[in-house]
Amino acid sequence: MDNQVFIFDTTLRDGEQSPGCSMSVDEKVRMAAKLQELGVDILEAGFPIASAGDFAAVETISRFFPRLRVGALARACALDIERALAALAKAKRPRLHTFIATSDIHLRFKLKKTRQQVLDEACAAVGMACKEVDDVEFSAEDATRTDPDYLVKVCRAVAAAGAATVNIPDTVGYSTPDEFGRLIAGLVAALDGKTVVSVHCHNDLGLATANSLAAIQAGARQIECTINGIGERAGNCALEEVVMAIQTRQDRLPYRTNIVSEQIYPASQLLSQLITFGPQPNKAIVGRNAFAHEAGIHQDGFLKERTTYEIIDPRTVGVPASRLVLGKHSGRHALRDRCEHLGYPVTRDELDLVYRGFIAFADRKKGVLDEEIVDIIRKEVQRYSRAVNE
Ligand code: KIV
Ligand code: ZN
Repeated sequence: MDNQVFIFDTTLRDGEQSPGCSMSVDEKVRMAAKLQELGVDILEAGFPIASAGDFAAVETISRFFPRLRVGALARACALDIERALAALAKAKRPRLHTFIATSDIHLRFKLKKTRQQVLDEACAAVGMACKEVDDVEFSAEDATRTDPDYLVKVCRAVAAAGAATVNIPDTVGYSTPDEFGRLIAGLVAALDGKTVVSVHCHNDLGLATANSLAAIQAGARQIECTINGIGERAGNCALEEVVMAIQTRQDRLPYRTNIVSEQIYPASQLLSQLITFGPQPNKAIVGRNAFAHEAGIHQDGFLKERTTYEIIDPRTVGVPASRLVLGKHSGRHALRDRCEHLGYPVTRDELDLVYRGFIAFADRKKGVLDEEIVDIIRKEVQRYSRAVNE
């Protein structure tokens, strides 16, 4: 099986539909330009029936970025599909993405439809879309809580109706890596080998990345994800995590993506400027602390050899440099290093004094700024020269 994994970015659709993340058309266009530089294979730009803004975003991105494969979402009904097709009319490489829920819980309480009705509507929607575009994706919403035999039946039927990609969403982030891997392996075996099996994992149990990786190992070849992991509730699988897990652990995950990893941090930063929040400080790959070291033992090891405490060179994801954060856990090596960087090389005796002054100060604070370190150096070095001259 080919080891190419396609990255389907839904930052501007699933990501945007979560609290604090809505973006104007102009903002979506700025983000789309960055996602193109990042090298995503498919960019889902919106849900055209949902709002005039979503329609305009899909239409504008389709016009401005002819090289991009642009996706538009539609429920499995004629009105939605017509609207999505209209928004995609100018796209050089349109992807129509249609979905319907398949779990009994959704059928009974939300759709009030039988399994047969859902199956028929799914096939009709795919058939209708295939008449207009040659790249149609079908998603079985709430797939992980769907009867697996019925899920296989739906996936086979939509593939026969023309869907080139069948997407298996863990809509409520309920699955676990072993269970999800088995489900995907079963579906891959049940399909013809030509249909791309995709996954779309939500992070309600913090397992979105692990589940996506398990799916790749089981034969999925498209991952739906977002920058910074934004998305409904606890978010979607984070693009940066799945891509860097593959890039870093080629020994366990011998797959390829088209992502230009140096653009990951710039994309994360741009998104943070466009929405109302950035990633948590300890967020993998793109968080403020992802390449910061504070503990003395770590700083000492890092200064001797970066790889003692870093599995990724920050420059490979576009982070300019690692940071040694000076705080009460820091050691002499890091403090000496910082003194030199700040233009104050210190002797061994001076360093002892500066270090003592620094630890006393840091004990009272959450973090120490460079200006404060300079003050401590000046004070302690002056005190040292006075003592030497007396
Ligand atoms: O989470 C989900 O099920 C979705 C589908 C529309 C793909 O976002
Ligand atoms: Zn989703």
